[in-house]
Formats: sequence, structure tokens, C-alpha cells
Amino acid sequence: MTTFRIMSIFGTRPEAIKMAPLVNTLEKEADFENIVVVTAQHREMLDQVLNLFNIMPDHDLNIMQPGQTLYDITCRSLKGLEKILKKEKPDLVLVHGDTTTTLAGSLAAYYQQIPVGHVEAGLRSGNIYSPFPEELNRKLTGGIATLHFAPTFTAKNNLLSEGACEKNIFVTGNTVIDALLKTVKADYKFNDIKLDNIDFAKKKVLLVTTHRRENLGEPMENIFKALVKLHEEFTEIEIIFPVHKNPVVRNLAHRVLSGYNRIHLIEPLDYEPFANLMAKSYLILTDSGGIQEEAPALGKPVLVLRENTERPEAVEAGTVKLAGIQCENIHKITRELLTNQDFYGRMEKAVNPYGDGNACHRIVNGLKYYFGIIYEKPEDWKYM
Ligand code: UD1
Ligand code: UDP
Repeated sequence: MTTFRIMSIFGTRPEAIKMAPLVNTLEKEADFENIVVVTAQHREMLDQVLNLFNIMPDHDLNIMQPGQTLYDITCRSLKGLEKILKKEKPDLVLVHGDTTTTLAGSLAAYYQQIPVGHVEAGLRSGNIYSPFPEELNRKLTGGIATLHFAPTFTAKNNLLSEGACEKNIFVTGNTVIDALLKTVKADYKFNDIKLDNIDFAKKKVLLVTTHRRENLGEPMENIFKALVKLHEEFTEIEIIFPVHKNPVVRNLAHRVLSGYNRIHLIEPLDYEPFANLMAKSYLILTDSGGIQEEAPALGKPVLVLRENTERPEAVEAGTVKLAGIQCENIHKITRELLTNQDFYGRMEKAVNPYGDGNACHRIVNGLKYYFGIIYEKPEDWKYM
């Protein structure tokens, strides 16, 4: 029997969370041989996901450096992947999303004329500087990819409008929902004294994350000033901020937010406690992409700390709102959610425009169709 060698390349926390369930699914398939390559654009934040999902990479480029630039990540990944691709000769390379590892991975495969399958393809903000550089990373990867695994119809339509061929696009839902549904448990207990001591029933927990490159500097300072203002005004809130490992984010966060008794600056949480913390929080403020997809599934209102988003579906469903990057606006809309129960209630409903937990299965079927193992193109996933 012919088996096809599928190489998954990823390097950061969000790619790992979204590729891990797919790697786990591929492992069970007799038609495919799984090869996992990590660039390790992230280190600790990547390794915790590999441990959680029991993934042992076949190759680890270990490229991360403190304060790395985009040039560093691109060059070190591209060069490192050259040798691995030559040695392993995969039949297809899978990359995910929009990071610099994604772009370098797809380019490295293209240089050896190896077809690329792009997971989480087709999201667009329409502005190559926001998210920066992710919008262009994703677009360029779309230009290289043979197969496009689009999470939603909006993403599929974006690809069609750019000339991608319909027969190569598969609407699958987002694999992040597969990961989330395996991870969130109603009776989850944190193994962390600070989190275990929070009375989630009495306190309103605001969970905050921010790390986007285009928010570094003044926008991030504005966000932090809004948090300080909210902390002064509302004694019933606890602000939990797992601070990204990026030293620029950490320095600013500690400078502006240290010394407030209900603002908790903590280390990035492992995925399992983080997903369960989202489920227990009152409200989430974030510039993260993945969290915009996960929180709606948990029925948690999300305020996006950006001026645009390439994930419009939950905004349309009403559970996500753009809060922008100005202190006044962020303060005003958060205040509204803390004081206006009707407004909160309208945002609180659980919606799943990003997936139903079966995205990995659909991607595997898309691969089977491409390799001629099955003859019928899998049906696109439809939300509602
Ligand atoms: C990258 C991705 C972004 C994704 C984000 C997820 C690009 C261009 N950007 O952001 O799309 O949303 O990751 O978090 O690919 N660090 C550690 N340990 C870690 C991880 C990071 O110390 O485990 C520190 C290092 O000093 C590193 C810095 O954080 O240099 C920034 O990491 P980097 O991957 O460059 O982050 P971004 O490009 O901001
Ligand atoms: N996440 C995590 N621990 C944290 C913060 C986030 O495990 O302390 C998870 C979150 O649930 C989501 C992913 O990391 O699945 C999002 O990663 P990030 O915000 O770094 O990147 P983005 O999604 O913006 O690319």
C-alpha cells in the first residue's frame, strides 16, 4: 500500500495549538506517514503545547533568540528547512496560518517544488500592515499553496476573489475548536494558588493578552492605561494578564501595570489552564487571533484591542467587538460591559462560527482526496 509522507512545519504557540490535533489525527491514519518539524520560533511557549498533545518533533531547528527580528526568523527557518526537506522528501508540506515560520516553511517547500497545504487559509484584513507582518505572510503563503484549508466561507470567498481554484479549497472549520473542545472541562482546577484563590462567582475577571507587533509602543501603553483606569473605578474586577514572553511587551507591562493589587501580571499560561481560565472569565480583552476564535465558542464576550480584524464572523454574530487602541474607547466599551447587563447579555451568547470540533477530520479527508485515496471531494463545513 502506498503511504504519503506529510510534513507539518510549525514554530509558535498558536500554530502548535492549532496543528497539534491535526498531527494527532494524522498519526492514526494508515495512508499517511507523519513528519513533524518545528522551527521553534518560540521555545517555552511551543514546548508546553508539544507536551500537552504528546508530540515529539522529528526535527527541531531551535531558532529562537531573545528579541529576534523578522529577518532572523525568516533566514534561520528557511536555511534550516532546506536540509530537512532534502533529506525527508515529503509528498506534501502542511503549514499553518500567518506567522513567519508559515511563510518560510511554504517558501522552503516551494523551492523544492513540494506541494503545500495551507491550514487556516484565506483570512484577510485587507491591510498588509495590520496585522503586521501576518496579513502578508498569509497572503503570500496562499499564493504558494496548492491546497487551501479555509476555516470559514468568508475565507473561501477571499481566496476565490484572489483567483484560487475552487477544487483546491476545502472549508473545514478551524482546528482551534478541535483543540479547545478537548481541553476545557467544567470541573477544571488550576494548579496555581493565585488562580485557585480567585472567587470567579463573586469577582468579575477580565482576562487580558496583547502581543501584536503593530501594538508595541504607544498603542500598548494606551491599552495598559485603560486597564489602570478600570482598576481604579471598579473594585469588583480582577485583571489577569498572562504576559507574552516578548521582552518589549514585558518591559512595558511591568512599567505601567506593576503595583496594582487587582492587576495580576503572570507568566504565559500553558494551554490547558489558559483555555479553562477563558471559560471562567467574565470578559476577555485581547489582540490575539486565536482567542477571538476560542472565546465565542465559550460564550465569552471579547473586546479586540485592534482597529480591524481578519476574523469578522464573531463580530457579525455579536460576541466580539473592536475596541480599538485608544485608552478612552477601550475604557468606555469595557465600562459599558461592566455596568450594562443587557449589553453584556447580548454579547455573552455562545456561537461557533469558527468550527465544530471536526476540522482535522475534514482536512485529512481533503488530503485523501488530493492523493486519490478517496474520489469524492469532501463537503464544505457550513456554520448553521
Ligand atoms: C509571533 C508571530 C505572531 C503570533 C505570535 C504568537 C510572526 C511574525 N509573528 O509573534 O503571528 O501571533 O508569535 O505569540 O511570526 N519569546 C520567548 N519564549 C517563547 C516565545 C517568545 O522568550 O517561547 C520571546 C523571545 O525573546 C522572542 C520574542 O518573544 O524573540 C518574540 O517572539 P516572536 O516569535 O518574534 O513573536 P512575534 O513575531 O511578536
Ligand atoms: N494562550 C495560551 N496561554 C496564554 C495565552 C494564550 O495557551 O497565556 C493560547 C490561546 O488560548 C490561543 C493561543 O494561545 O489558543 C493564541 O496565541 P497568541 O495570542 O500568542 O497568538 P495569535 O493567536 O494571536 O497568533
